[in-house]
Amino acid sequence: MSGLTEQDCSHINVTPLTGVLGAEIDGIDLTSGLSDRVVEEIEHAFAQHSVIVFRNQNIQPEDQKRFTRMFGEFGVEPYVKTMPDHPEVIEVVKDKSEIGVKNFGGNWHSDWSFQEAPPRATILHAKEVPPYGGDTLFANMYMAYDTLSSGMRRMLDGMRVMHSARRPYGIDNKLFGTAKRSMTIINTEEAHAEYAHPAVRTIPQTGRKALFINPVYAIRFEDMTERESRPILDFLNDHATRDEFTCRVRWQPGTLTMWDNRCVQHNAMNDYDGFSRRLHRTTVAGDRPSI
Ligand code: SIN
Repeated sequence: MSGLTEQDCSHINVTPLTGVLGAEIDGIDLTSGLSDRVVEEIEHAFAQHSVIVFRNQNIQPEDQKRFTRMFGEFGVEPYVKTMPDHPEVIEVVKDKSEIGVKNFGGNWHSDWSFQEAPPRATILHAKEVPPYGGDTLFANMYMAYDTLSSGMRRMLDGMRVMHSARRPYGIDNKLFGTAKRSMTIINTEEAHAEYAHPAVRTIPQTGRKALFINPVYAIRFEDMTERESRPILDFLNDHATRDEFTCRVRWQPGTLTMWDNRCVQHNAMNDYDGFSRRLHRTTVAGDRPSI
């Protein structure tokens, strides 16, 4: 857990977005390196708010990569073609010509939760945004867990969930369909593999438990069929994304948002047909989830 208190954080200004999740941080310029002390203060704010937003950052991929590495190693980016000169960066893009096309990230999920060690954090920097729409919603999985009944919490504390990339990236291509798109999505048999994670994980920086399921990658409970699991997963997915657990980020060119995949789900709105939206995404590697 961070040794800092709010009063110690004198190098950054933190303004909460809502009473439950997210904060904007100002006083930071990401075109150059940050001191260890500033990174420590950002880590403190990140542990408190789980989603942090920096506005007006006129940065290049090299700057974003430097910022990403301040929080750990790069994560592994599967199934989506990365930028030719930057294998650590995915360009998240939907072009104005892609009318009625499913967008990348447009369902509640936690990034790459099917990996053995899913990314701790994702960092997304807006290059081009529509005049309205294209916001990203975030939901607080600490609150999702804390507000379950004691019986449900006890049951989930002992369960593991199988995660798989097969819905978006498997060979039957269910989520994205076959529309031509600006992003190159790779559909493969490998995406059908399943990986077990605890249904509830403890985040070391806060010592708090968070619900760790999501409707895209969490397929079933371990040792249960999909049909047996479905009613409980459906309930949990609805519960976890209740309005009162969420915040919403409205993008501007230069906005950079970092979120904690261990305790947050997110969902990119697809309400901007006829306009282009383009952002650069990096991830920070994480640990194997543990209870
Ligand atoms: C993602 O899921 O990584 C993309 C989110 C977004 O485009 O807002």
